[in-house]
Amino acid sequence: MKNCLISNKLQISLNKSIQMEFSSAMIYYAMSSYLRSEGLKHGAELFTKWADEEMGHGKKLIEYLDDRNCLAKIEGADSATNSFKNLEEMLNAGYEHEVLVSNNYIKISSIALSEDDNTTFHFLSWYVNEQKEEIVKFRDLIDAYNNIGDIPERKYLMDKVFKSYL
Ligand code: FEO
Repeated sequence: MKNCLISNKLQISLNKSIQMEFSSAMIYYAMSSYLRSEGLKHGAELFTKWADEEMGHGKKLIEYLDDRNCLAKIEGADSATNSFKNLEEMLNAGYEHEVLVSNNYIKISSIALSEDDNTTFHFLSWYVNEQKEEIVKFRDLIDAYNNIGDIPERKYLMDKVFKSYL
């Protein structure tokens, strides 16, 4: 195999991102299980779909490393909780997680720019944009939850909101 075409620093960061993406998937699979247990059928389906997408984001990073003649290091994903006080806590956890992932990509993009690695910088711009969208999705779900308010139909109405994202 030819030499890896990206710096050691970026390789480490991209490998860490693979772990983050797979951890995101685990987090959303666990949230899906929680939603199912709460009777939110469409919410469970939506979070499984998002978890599948996160797996795809991880695979895309592995492919990129391969395209640049570099080996991907697959670390274990962090274990994820399926226990939440309520839907609000779960949605806030999802929002905070996506902000964390987003900051990771912004940081790596800056490293790529500082190294004049424009190939990696352009590759990462897809992730930066994707993260922006994911943060918006969680923010909108939290807004919907708050706008519905503390009424008996709250969970039923939130499941309708989840359905609208499928
Ligand atoms: Fe693909 Fe939400 O990170």
